[in-house]
Amino acid sequence: MVLVGLVFPYQLQLPIAYSRGFWVRCENTRQWEILSSNLHGPKRNMEFNDVLLRYEALSGEVDEAIRLVLHAGRYILGPSVRAFEQEFAKYCGASEGVGVGSGTDALSIALRALGVGKGDEVLVPAVSAAASAMAVVLAGAKPVFVDISAEDFNMDPGQAGERVTGRTRAVVPVHLYGMPAQLEKIAQFGIPIVEDAAQAHGSKSHWGICGSFGAASAFSFYPTKNSGAYGDGGLIVTSNPEVAARSRLLRNYGQQENYCSDTLGQNSRLDELHAAVLRIQLRMLEEWNRSRQKVAARYRAAFRELPLGVQAETGASNGHLFVVTTPERDALRLHLASRGVPTAIHYPVSLNRQKAFREFDPKPCPKAELLCSRVLSLPIHPYLPDNEVNRVIESVHSFFN
Ligand SMILES: Cc1ncc(COP(=O)(O)O)c(C=O)c1O
Repeated sequence: MVLVGLVFPYQLQLPIAYSRGFWVRCENTRQWEILSSNLHGPKRNMEFNDVLLRYEALSGEVDEAIRLVLHAGRYILGPSVRAFEQEFAKYCGASEGVGVGSGTDALSIALRALGVGKGDEVLVPAVSAAASAMAVVLAGAKPVFVDISAEDFNMDPGQAGERVTGRTRAVVPVHLYGMPAQLEKIAQFGIPIVEDAAQAHGSKSHWGICGSFGAASAFSFYPTKNSGAYGDGGLIVTSNPEVAARSRLLRNYGQQENYCSDTLGQNSRLDELHAAVLRIQLRMLEEWNRSRQKVAARYRAAFRELPLGVQAETGASNGHLFVVTTPERDALRLHLASRGVPTAIHYPVSLNRQKAFREFDPKPCPKAELLCSRVLSLPIHPYLPDNEVNRVIESVHSFFN
């Protein structure tokens, strides 16, 4: 991290900071303080995520975008949503985007738009956010849990094949932690795929960018995602015009014309304010992902000799989370906490073991259960300074030494 003070015209002093390959203009004193504390040593607590730093880096643009929406007087399904839908779909190499209220809704609406409903089964990996499976239930279907691959931690295509029945109507592979799932193998069953790309904005594999492969894909813009709103938001991406049209109906009371409902829908709409903010974030996404990938590459290199598991690379993850595995997970977590390194557990209990899904009588998923007892997520975000990455690495090493 290098910090440089620059004097601009109008006696305005705007400090800028150089951090892992790109320049960040400090919009205000608070951001300058945070960045300078990085230069002068760990005076502040290390952050697990960057939601506030991300806002502070873009606050001028974000505040102005919000001001413009407020003054335009159109707050629901207006021009910002339409523009963002098109821009994000294009980024994913798809033709249509449908803005909805959350990633969960993006999944459940996409499933309903594909005709999934009562009596149907949908395959879901046993390690994910509960939302991946709850969306299936919201669509009226039964989640059938599939064990994961111990290498890439994503849905095991072989296991998926074993859990297909005559009632299987869709499969929801999750690109867990941002790492692309093995979609080509899963596609061999000929069952429609709805990608859960909630953690995979901009992740790429040999088959393309995440979100481009499935019959439909679901993104979440929860604040901590690689592209995050300041509240909830989601998007369905598809190149199937019928799925897009049906999703648009379902998100808005089932109506094409105001006050005339053609089908039973719901209220789940991305709002104008969030769409305006997300348009700005989309312009930063590739740069932010590169920055995360540099942190991930440093961790991978530094931990190579340690008795730690890491996710096999099935493509270029967007670096959403960096997760290590060890039977000594809880002790490592305590050790890191004692050194001021925040961590998290994604996820402590596999979905087949969660009380909420008991009624669906899930089959055992032993690899998922083992993984959940061993995973530990380390800090990773675009504004994580080099000295903090060093501190994480040194602290992990000191545990094993
Ligand atoms: C893999 C996965 N799927 C679905 C979701 C649900 O997204 P949202 O919180 O926007 O409803 C999340 C968010 O945590 C997620 O991580």
